[in-house]
Amino acid sequence: MAGSITSPCVGLCSTTLGDPVCRGCQRGDDEILEWFGLSGDQRAARMAELDALRESVAGRFLKVIDADCLEAQLRRYRIRFRPEQPALSRAVELLRVGRTRIQALRRYGLEPSEAALGLDVAELHARLSQALNEAAERRTLETSDAPPSYRLRHTPVHAMPETLAETVPRTMPRTMPETMPEIAEVPSDESLLPPDLLDFLNCATPDGWIAWALENPELLLIDHAQCEKKAASTAMSLLYRYVNEPLLLTKMSQLAREELLHFEQVVKLMESRGIVYRHLSASRYAEGLRQHIDAQEPARLVDILIIGAFIEARSCERFARLIPHLDLELAKFYRTLVKSEGRHYEDYLMLARHLAPGPIDDRVAFFAEREAELIVTPDKAFRFHSGVPG
Ligand SMILES: [Fe+2]
Ligand SMILES: [Fe+2]
Repeated sequence: MAGSITSPCVGLCSTTLGDPVCRGCQRGDDEILEWFGLSGDQRAARMAELDALRESVAGRFLKVIDADCLEAQLRRYRIRFRPEQPALSRAVELLRVGRTRIQALRRYGLEPSEAALGLDVAELHARLSQALNEAAERRTLETSDAPPSYRLRHTPVHAMPETLAETVPRTMPRTMPETMPEIAEVPSDESLLPPDLLDFLNCATPDGWIAWALENPELLLIDHAQCEKKAASTAMSLLYRYVNEPLLLTKMSQLAREELLHFEQVVKLMESRGIVYRHLSASRYAEGLRQHIDAQEPARLVDILIIGAFIEARSCERFARLIPHLDLELAKFYRTLVKSEGRHYEDYLMLARHLAPGPIDDRVAFFAEREAELIVTPDKAFRFHSGVPG
């Protein structure tokens, strides 16, 4: 689907933990927050600036000897890259993910520069990463009009402890260290998503929402529990209303059971963390979509199913985006949910196509726009499906 909002975010988001620039995307806090207000051209220009920064720093440590080989390896390990992204900028991503696994750089189309000869890949990455963060910090300060007091409040990146978890207050979920799992065996979070899910959604979850979620770990779980219960209840209401559709009955019965199981799992997790389950007002999200449901059948049912697909797809995307920031227990749980909510998204969309009298593409595009508006615009309260902090 056209109009996807791209972002340089790679899900590391270390500014939420106090870094003045993000170790993943090299942007400063202000730049991250203003990203979704930028036009397409402005974003492209920023992307080019960040790529140039990466190229100039990475070029001190690495040489690209075979760009096609590098691209093939990125695809093999499902590491995201952009078509226009220069090879050295892509190499930064490869090393960030694979530094503990890569033995021979030549097999990835790379070789060390003279300055980096004799370093193993992990050490080369450590030096490159430090140089990149220092360069990114200089860039942010040069372009920032923030007062000096603001700058002094921030500890320089190179002075930060190696393990980011040490900097996290106790009330926040502990963050996984930056070290990635063995890339050949553990897929990245986005690789768990159904292949077309990110295209189905008109926009990615803004970085501002991720930061908001990490500031509200209790609300995140409580509202998550509410969402699971509501998902089961929506499936049950379809079971009651459309008794003459055998495929829908089977799928909704399975889905309701799975959602109730998720509900039980979230409640159990909350109990183990001493989080008290309480009632929360609903977010504007579901109602913001449901208000557009056609009043006449069969369009009504098709709209409900399309909305179901969007709610499941967005949940799935948000779980995947959150995983790199969470403690191991929650990350593992959310990884299982990505798979199951991804299946629910596919089932809802399949049912919508199966039960509609004609093509549903226009209706999907309509709801994609409404959904994206609810995701990128300011919202009053933090919820699992809320927009950005308002
Ligand atoms: Fe669920
Ligand atoms: Fe679901």
